[in-house]
Amino acid sequence: MSVNKEIKRITTNTIQEMKVRGEKISMLTAYDYSMATIVDEAGTDIILVGDSASNVMAGHETTLPITLDQMIYHASSVVRAAKRALVVVDLPFGSYQGNSKEALNSAIRIMKEAGAHAVKIEGGVEIAESVSRILTAGIPVMGHLGLTPQSIYKFGTYTVRAKHEAEAQKLREDAVKLQELGCFGVVLEKIPAKLAQEVTANLQIPTIGIGAGQHCDGQVLVIHDMLGINKGFKPRFLRQYSNLYDVMHDAIKNYNTDVKSNSFPNEKEQY
Ligand code: KIV
Repeated sequence: MSVNKEIKRITTNTIQEMKVRGEKISMLTAYDYSMATIVDEAGTDIILVGDSASNVMAGHETTLPITLDQMIYHASSVVRAAKRALVVVDLPFGSYQGNSKEALNSAIRIMKEAGAHAVKIEGGVEIAESVSRILTAGIPVMGHLGLTPQSIYKFGTYTVRAKHEAEAQKLREDAVKLQELGCFGVVLEKIPAKLAQEVTANLQIPTIGIGAGQHCDGQVLVIHDMLGINKGFKPRFLRQYSNLYDVMHDAIKNYNTDVKSNSFPNEKEQY
């Protein structure tokens, strides 16, 4: 008799049911096999292979330089690790803005070559045709509104978005549009909590917040930020659950000391 417990995969339907039940949705980023294994086994509902890989994995200042090939490489490593979580992958800058056919081709590559379960795409009504075309191919789409880092050079700063009524109203309309098109969820990044609460109440699909307050249906953080691997990054919305920079730094320093003093390896650590 097998004692292996079958792991039930989280799907876009599960996420929808969680919203209906009022059960909060947890989402975290991951970009490689080892980290994704931990994120998955800890019970995270959605793993986002974010284009924040451009910052935290590659050291770029913005998310703009990461390529579709690089996203597929990260995503395929995460997919191999995720036994339970729904794996959502960002369409990177330049892979969908040209036209809806290009957007569909990029989404198909992510699904086919990485084995992802869904894609995420930044923007509202202006990308409606692309969202629609991707959905027509049977690929689940998550939207992303508010602070959309791929447009950083248009915004000029990473400060809170939609503080003024005109932008707040556009965000409300964009959220409804994404729902009407068939998106299964929408990330709300760095907007006032009250606006996120209103949008969340008005939508049937779940909202996942980052810097958008406690009334969203779920929350997402960049794994390097919440584990304290990025030493200097401490925005107000971030809760840091560990201080891995110091933990890892000390461990590596101890290793270096042991190698140089010839105390590693010892007699028990050799053949
Ligand atoms: O790329 C990313 O990590 C994201 C999250 C911040 C939502 O899009």
